[in-house]
Amino acid sequence: MTHVHDGLDDDSSTGKGEFVQDDIDIDVDGELGFEPAVSVTGAEPSGRPAGRSRTAPAASKPGSRRVLRRRLGAGAVLIGALVSMGGTYAAFASSSAPDTSNSAGDIAAGRQLYQTSCITCHGANLQGVKDRAPSLLGVGGASVYFQVSTGRMPAAGQGADQKRKTAKFDEQQVKQLAAYIQSIGGGPQLPVGDLRAGDIAKGGDLFRLNCASCHGTTFQGAPLSAGKVAPGLNRATDEQFYAAMLSGPESMPIFSDHQLTPLQKREIINYVQTLKASKDPGGNGIDRIGPVSEALVFFIAGVGAVMAAILWIGAKAE
Ligand code: HEC
Ligand code: HEC
Repeated sequence: MTHVHDGLDDDSSTGKGEFVQDDIDIDVDGELGFEPAVSVTGAEPSGRPAGRSRTAPAASKPGSRRVLRRRLGAGAVLIGALVSMGGTYAAFASSSAPDTSNSAGDIAAGRQLYQTSCITCHGANLQGVKDRAPSLLGVGGASVYFQVSTGRMPAAGQGADQKRKTAKFDEQQVKQLAAYIQSIGGGPQLPVGDLRAGDIAKGGDLFRLNCASCHGTTFQGAPLSAGKVAPGLNRATDEQFYAAMLSGPESMPIFSDHQLTPLQKREIINYVQTLKASKDPGGNGIDRIGPVSEALVFFIAGVGAVMAAILWIGAKAE
């Protein structure tokens, strides 16, 4: 590593947060108010010496340095704003993190619903009731979402073979029940955000490999052994697909994130739902991701242009 001292700011011995980039110096502590990507404390992994970041040419006029410094300060503030806006965007756009933020209000409301509609079969502590219903400890919010949003739960009668029917609870109540049962026993949860992603053709391959043997290549469903039936998939929503894979209802296997990664699950959903929509012109649009990415590109290009303009106007004004 080359390290040439420029001889202008001889404070490297103090280790006081100043680094030199070409002939411009930026007072990190004072002017910009944020931490630079390059550590100035000397603890930096690449082994650069404290206080100095790059080779600096020997001569420069102090006056022009101050001007540049000011302009760069403005630029850096803009970059900071851009980065934080990008971060905000990413936070909204990100879709892989599970929603672990079940609010206390949701949990309390879910507890109420549980006590009126589920407790007789699943027990006061979710432990299950012999000859009525299994334990719900550890099944996770995803299983609850699947069972209740498809109307399978609350069960009409005893027995394992619960069919899809009109849901008794609305979306918010389903989430409250899921939050409550999750808060007691843990288990797999539905992720937040868009559940479609990736390559539709890959989703098709994965579907034929993992799902078509039971549900059929055209999603029509099929009889299984022992009088059981794999239902058709035409009514299932994105969330119900994801929850079915996470929880493996009845004789359907569980597809954990080791068997099918979160991206592969989304590719399968993308494939099935896109094909369903293309058969039914009234359905959801195919390109749910496209316009958002385009908007982001325009947004970044636009901010870049504004920055360039500001730097240029600054240059003219001097
Ligand atoms: C009449 C009895 C009955 C009632 C009431 C009932 N359940 Fe169930 N529940 C069952 C039975 C039986 C099963 C097992 C079904 C199966 O194996 O397919 C089950 C299974 C489940 C499962 C799947 C567990 C797993 O292993 O993934 C969930 C989740 C569930 N119930 C939630 C609820 C919720 C929430 C309510 C209240 C809104 C409720 N149930 C009300 C009988 C009941
Ligand atoms: C071994 C057979 C089998 C395989 C393989 C299988 N499923 Fe299922 N699936 C079932 C059965 C049985 C049910 C009904 C469960 C119930 O009623 O409780 C079901 C239910 C569903 C539902 C709910 C449908 C509705 O409208 O309620 C969806 C969605 C689903 N499966 C998706 C998938 C996907 C996606 C795959 C592949 C990753 C898959 N399944 C693989 C047997 C299977």
